[in-house]
Amino acid sequence: MAQLDGQIAIVTGASRGIGRAIAETFVREGARVVICGRKQEVLDQVAREIGPLVTPVACHVGRADDIRNLVDTTVAEFGRVDILVNNAGTNVAQGPCLEMDEGQFDKMVDVNLKSAFRLMNAVAPGMCERGSGSIINIASISGIRPQHHGMLYSMTKAALIMMTQSYAVELGPMGVRVNAIAPGLIQTKLSEYYWKDDARRDSQVNRQPVRHLGQPSEIAEAALLLAGGGGSYMTGQTLVIDGGFLLSSI
Ligand SMILES: NC(=O)c1ccc[n+]([C@@H]2O[C@H](COP(=O)([O-])OP(=O)(O)OC[C@H]3O[C@@H](n4cnc5c(N)ncnc54)[C@H](OP(=O)(O)O)[C@@H]3O)[C@@H](O)[C@H]2O)c1
Repeated sequence: MAQLDGQIAIVTGASRGIGRAIAETFVREGARVVICGRKQEVLDQVAREIGPLVTPVACHVGRADDIRNLVDTTVAEFGRVDILVNNAGTNVAQGPCLEMDEGQFDKMVDVNLKSAFRLMNAVAPGMCERGSGSIINIASISGIRPQHHGMLYSMTKAALIMMTQSYAVELGPMGVRVNAIAPGLIQTKLSEYYWKDDARRDSQVNRQPVRHLGQPSEIAEAALLLAGGGGSYMTGQTLVIDGGFLLSSI
């Protein structure tokens, strides 16, 4: 039997990359998946490609009204949310700490962090009432070690990991598990600076015990574990999926 048969999931940032791979994997396992991104026409195309179990709803995760609409639309259509994946993220504000301004700080917090806070607070009460649910926050190894010239990105991802632990402690007794995944380098648009150039990609991959460039599907399979029965005894955890990259700094 499919692992997520009949489950209702929201996956943010699912128009491409890791979020899309998670949506595809959840659909493969029988879930209905509401996908979001900023552009309705792109989402419509993705939904056509993945199949009828996907519902596309445009949502800028940095905007409270959009988040409310995403959750209300899902609940109106399917009655509940069983799985929430906070995946949408950005790394627009890169550079030395001393050159970052408050506008960049606020944008990074709104998109990478406050979005997860708003979505968890909108969705978790229903999960608690029903006594079950799984929330998965896509963090990063940059939330565990500082990314060079990526202070704002690292800061939001570190906070997301702590947010995950805090919600896990409070919601666990109500049957809701909250976990994070910290990917290393995965081949997506967001990370193309690190893999498009052959020399830069090789230098990265050669520092990993697992000598291939990570793929979105390798994160999606971990999300499936956390979403489904296989993760029933796991909460508050951050799964590091980086081909062993972080080991190289020890
Ligand atoms: N790739 C890596 O190496 C890597 C490593 C560690 C962690 N991560 C994390 O993994 C997650 C997914 O990243 P990815 O690599 O798959 O990136 P990606 O290929 O660039 O995809 C990002 C997704 O997020 C959506 N998105 C961006 N800003 C949004 C916003 N304000 N509101 C709604 N949706 C938004 C994008 O859709 P639209 O542009 O259409 O809105 C797209 O669907 C992120 O949280 C990222 O930090 C990635």
